[in-house]
Amino acid sequence: MIGNIIVKSNYEEMSHYAASVVAGIIRLKPDCVLGLPTGSTPIGMYKELIRMHQTEGLDFSGVTTFNLDEYVGLGLDLNKPYTKDQSYARFMWEEFFRHVSLRKENALIPDGRAKDLVKECHYYESRIKQAGGIDLQILGIGTDGHIGFNEPSSPFSSRTRVEDLHAQTIADNYEKFFKPAGFAKGQVPKRAVSMGIATVLEAKQIMLLASGQEKSDVVFKALSGPIMEEMPASVLQLFPEKIRIVTDQTAASRMVKYTE
Ligand code: PGA
Repeated sequence: MIGNIIVKSNYEEMSHYAASVVAGIIRLKPDCVLGLPTGSTPIGMYKELIRMHQTEGLDFSGVTTFNLDEYVGLGLDLNKPYTKDQSYARFMWEEFFRHVSLRKENALIPDGRAKDLVKECHYYESRIKQAGGIDLQILGIGTDGHIGFNEPSSPFSSRTRVEDLHAQTIADNYEKFFKPAGFAKGQVPKRAVSMGIATVLEAKQIMLLASGQEKSDVVFKALSGPIMEEMPASVLQLFPEKIRIVTDQTAASRMVKYTE
């Protein structure tokens, strides 16, 4: 089991703690490189970072960011963010980028609309290298154990590539993002470009966020079960020195007895 698990009493406290980790790294290294997730879990962290920017002057102007993934067929030019779609680029624009001082040219997201996706994946890897690697990679976790869109059975050695999404992930994404926006189930993309597991693991520090009862089983299995490709997040157990798991009480309920 990984030792570095920080359990907060609720979602808000988890989010504030996660934001304080990110802010600490930015203050320590104003030109740091962050790896960012989408999903419902990090929204509270992004909100708190926006507050820190607006009221405490937390400055993102030297920061570079790399998003974990993007749906195939979707994407957004951050210089012309007008089209309405369900791309992760749009999510990042709405939930975070447009509120802070991050430079658009330093906010990198794989382009799911690229004609040559293999080339796009290689290009993305080369941009991460060019930036000097990722200082802090923030992750969510899927109910099936995916990190980024590395679904169960993704090789631990995988690099940025196109991944077929599993039925559970498509169903989760439909309920959380596509249904509320009025899209039909059939409109949820079935493929995504995702940083690979090996790409993620090269980050100097990694922080995984998990919140809610629906994640309690997967958190338990990923962090205390066998390390295997069928459970992608279990690979994090191999790097206890650089992994920080931040959860709320319910997500950790099968792991630890809450004491605070
Ligand atoms: P969620 O997604 O934050 O919406 O639960 C997490 C993930 O799929 O990685």
